[in-house]
Amino acid sequence: MNIDGASILVTAGCGFIGSSAIDLLLKEYAPARIVILDNLVRGSLANVEAALKDPRVTLVRGDIRDAPTSHRFLNFRTAPFYQIIQKMWERHLAAKFEHFAAA
Ligand SMILES: NC(=O)c1ccc[n+]([C@@H]2O[C@H](COP(=O)([O-])OP(=O)(O)OC[C@H]3O[C@@H](n4cnc5c(N)ncnc54)[C@H](O)[C@@H]3O)[C@@H](O)[C@H]2O)c1
Repeated sequence: MNIDGASILVTAGCGFIGSSAIDLLLKEYAPARIVILDNLVRGSLANVEAALKDPRVTLVRGDIRDAPTSHRFLNFRTAPFYQIIQKMWERHLAAKFEHFAAA
């Protein structure tokens, strides 16, 4: 899946996994645009504070179960994707191994 140049929708983007995926997308890829769709029932704005400083990133406060809201983004790609999650998991494991090696 080509992420570079794509418009990407990150549902639940203010949560732990979604916000980590956004940070990785911004750091390692070149998406044209990222829309975070989150109703903030959990998660936190603090999780996306840094990402929202990037002009390519916007936050839409809304519920993915709300059809008119979701339909606005039907032509977006969705994230997290398999390769994003795989990368996050590899980084997580590498950090754990570094921690144990240093102990
Ligand atoms: N964190 C983990 O280790 C882990 C592991 C396996 C599976 N999961 C699953 O992955 C998903 C995300 O996990 P997380 O840790 O990022 O959770 P989280 O609670 O940190 O984030 C979930 C986000 O989804 C948003 N949200 C909830 N309902 C919504 C709705 N109807 N519309 C829009 N936004 C909505 C919340 O406001 C929150 O920001 C969950 O389903 C969780 O069960 C998480």
